[in-house]
Amino acid sequence: MVAEISKGLEDVFIKTTTLTNIDGIKGILRYRGYDINDLVEHGTYEEVIYLMIYGSLPTKEQLNTLKEKMKKHYNISSDLLNILAKLPKNADAIGMLEVAFSVLASGEVDYKWKPDADKEKAIELIAKSLSIVANIYRIKEGLPVKNAVIKESYAETFLNVCFDKPVPKEFVNVMDKALILYADHEVPASTTAALVVSSTLTDMASSIVAGLAALKGPLHGGAAEAAFKQFIDIGNVNNVDSWFNKHVLENKERLMGFGHRVYKTTDPRSKIFKRFSETFSKYNKEVDRYYQIASKLENLATNEFSHKGIFANTDFYSGIVYYGLGFAPYMPTPLFALSRVTGWLAHVMEYVEEQERIIRPRAIYVGIDRRDYVPIDKR
Ligand SMILES: CC(C)(COP(=O)(O)OP(=O)(O)OC[C@H]1O[C@@H](n2cnc3c(N)ncnc32)[C@H](O)[C@@H]1OP(=O)(O)O)[C@@H](O)C(=O)NCCC(=O)NCCS
Repeated sequence: MVAEISKGLEDVFIKTTTLTNIDGIKGILRYRGYDINDLVEHGTYEEVIYLMIYGSLPTKEQLNTLKEKMKKHYNISSDLLNILAKLPKNADAIGMLEVAFSVLASGEVDYKWKPDADKEKAIELIAKSLSIVANIYRIKEGLPVKNAVIKESYAETFLNVCFDKPVPKEFVNVMDKALILYADHEVPASTTAALVVSSTLTDMASSIVAGLAALKGPLHGGAAEAAFKQFIDIGNVNNVDSWFNKHVLENKERLMGFGHRVYKTTDPRSKIFKRFSETFSKYNKEVDRYYQIASKLENLATNEFSHKGIFANTDFYSGIVYYGLGFAPYMPTPLFALSRVTGWLAHVMEYVEEQERIIRPRAIYVGIDRRDYVPIDKR
């Protein structure tokens, strides 16, 4: 056998899936056959959760049952809240999320694989993510931890725990759409990490810890925060040209929120986030400043890189949208994680329940063949 390495596992297929289909050439993204644009236009995050976990869009009755089920699990135990509250205010938000899910994995609730109970457990974990992320935001903002006051939707309840003031309906709507946009994306590094971990039949909460650990890197979900921080660094639309020349063209730094392993055209999610940023920019001067910077930077970078198939990805504009909703610049990646929990769990369930085999690749040994052991005083 001639062993070959695919760097970065490019074009290596790890599983079959009925969850998410990406056409990277045409720029199409579908969840279980439904186009992302249609889901964002007509659907809600709860419908998408149902779609991903149970396989089809819910009837009204199924949706109500799901919502009632989730409402029972929006809150986390006071023990977990207290552990999170002890973490320093300036701790990394994704690191704090890893702590939270590690606590769940440590046995507070039993998340071990159990045929027939997995979907229920997944719904429970998706629901709990709401209080976990919202309270991490509160802790970092110096606010006391608090329980969720249950509102009509996941998005409304979430924003309500985060902010101590009423949230306009349009904001709830945009939050709901953002949750849909980040819910799944086939098998990027974080989902692959979750799959590797779940293939050992470890518990579901540990798979989320693995997903989070991979997500926070700047080449993956960390890019959402890094992209927004670029706009802060640029500061003003008049500085875009000089910033781009110095950082990207001269220093060869990677433009965050640009490029993708699968898309060789604009990521369809990026177009939707761009639209939301533009809408926010009409009402909020700060958002408008960031929107002007981002769209000029997108034009420059597209002119420079499109011949290499490098275009804006989902993380380019999402930070502006989250900022428009009132979140601090460190929040884009935790907000990405908030809804990606759904995709991670849907994929690990699909793998463990249907295709389970431990993921155990090989490495090609290229070191010295054989050496005699030399005692330490003779080396
Ligand atoms: C997403 C990403 C990691 C994909 O990586 P990949 O498929 O392994 O692609 P590579 O790193 O091999 O890049 C291929 C080429 O494009 C260039 N490139 C890729 N993304 C780039 C970017 N954002 N800015 C500048 N150049 C980029 C690389 O320098 C490389 O050029 P070369 O062939 O001249 O050496 C990469 O595009 C990236 O680092 N993007 C920025 C981070 C980001 O936005 N991540 C979120 C992804 S959703």
